[in-house]
Amino acid sequence: MRARVLSGMRPTGALHLGHYHGALKNWVRLQHAYDSFFFVADWHALTTHYQDRDVIERNVYDMVIDWIAAGLDPDLCTIFIQSRLPEHAELFTLLAMGTPLGWLERVPTYKDQIEHLSERDLATYGFLGYPLLQAADILIYKAAFVPVGEDQDSHVELTREVARRFNHLYGRSPRFEADVAAALAKLPPEQRGLLERQRRQFVQDGDVAALGNGEALLRAQAGRHGFTAEDAELVQGHLKGSGRTVLHEPQALHTEVTKLPGLDGQKMSKSYGNAIEMREEPAQVEAKIRRMPTDPQRVRRTDAGDPARCPVWQFHKVYSDAAAQQWAHDGCTTAGIGCLDCKQPVIDAILREQQPWRERAEQYLANPKQVHWIVEMGTERARTVARQTMKDVRDVMGLSY
Ligand code: TRP
Ligand code: SF4
Repeated sequence: MRARVLSGMRPTGALHLGHYHGALKNWVRLQHAYDSFFFVADWHALTTHYQDRDVIERNVYDMVIDWIAAGLDPDLCTIFIQSRLPEHAELFTLLAMGTPLGWLERVPTYKDQIEHLSERDLATYGFLGYPLLQAADILIYKAAFVPVGEDQDSHVELTREVARRFNHLYGRSPRFEADVAAALAKLPPEQRGLLERQRRQFVQDGDVAALGNGEALLRAQAGRHGFTAEDAELVQGHLKGSGRTVLHEPQALHTEVTKLPGLDGQKMSKSYGNAIEMREEPAQVEAKIRRMPTDPQRVRRTDAGDPARCPVWQFHKVYSDAAAQQWAHDGCTTAGIGCLDCKQPVIDAILREQQPWRERAEQYLANPKQVHWIVEMGTERARTVARQTMKDVRDVMGLSY
């Protein structure tokens, strides 16, 4: 079974080249290697945009079209919408009961965003809960990896703490003890005795080597005498004194992503007015690049410039091969080329990159039902997994009456 990857994006506007190079390109790659789940985080969008309902409504399916246009293949990955799966809200609620307030108040994005987006009123209960809702998104699919930018690391870390606490609180039910006993009964008595000794040495004396020995023993026994991998996982929880692993701790996945700044050299963002949309009109793309600021100290065509001071150079680093970069760099520092000359290969490369996106998007724009159907299929696939997890969660929390 392939490990599962899960990630989401908030539908707050048309996707731009920064989203493509910073995340989407990576998703397209991951879908070949992992059991990949990608979803529209519309509830997360509401935490900051609860006053603009049409922004979200307009962008949900448009964002899915951007994803597919960029190369996400609905036959390879599972695409769905968060709000179509109330199970996320149920897990969020259940986790909320035992999550200390301080854990959420201490998440660095919380205070940052409140200061950064001061024009919005973010002193809401929903906004404080943002990372916990994200934890529910991740844990409900037992995702092993979460491909996100480094700005989201603290959210993945919180998710891990929440999972650990949950397993600690609820993983040691009476049923767990009975299941462990049944699994242990499958082992030969001498192995069982050895395991019990290792467990005591670890739990009572903190002997980490004993834990390692015990785990090695379990690995060696798995698959023999009817002792299954699940049995091994149960007994491992017993060995560590941690209980059953109901929720799995995920890991952030930072594969190399390309940082493409905005037209002015700041982070690319629609709200800064420095973005190029993934499916922006070619004429518009050309006009935007031609207007793009360059090295402010290169005032006249005859002045030599310094690429290090120029946002166009950042674009060359993403879009040009070594030869073209050399040409731009030399031309700039010797005043051999003008800035419009320098920009032309960037314009060409962006238009070339966007061409297949526009073509692929066309059929979905002409036939919205097709997109709805893709999301429908993905949602049902996700629901099967989410339901199973919720069944386990309710079980261990003593809620399956
Ligand atoms: N917070 C993420 C972002 O702003 C979006 C998101 C919501 C997400 N739920 C998630 C990402 C679960 C990964 C996994 O980019
Ligand atoms: Fe920037 Fe190119 Fe002009 Fe140099 S020549 S300032 S790198 S646009």
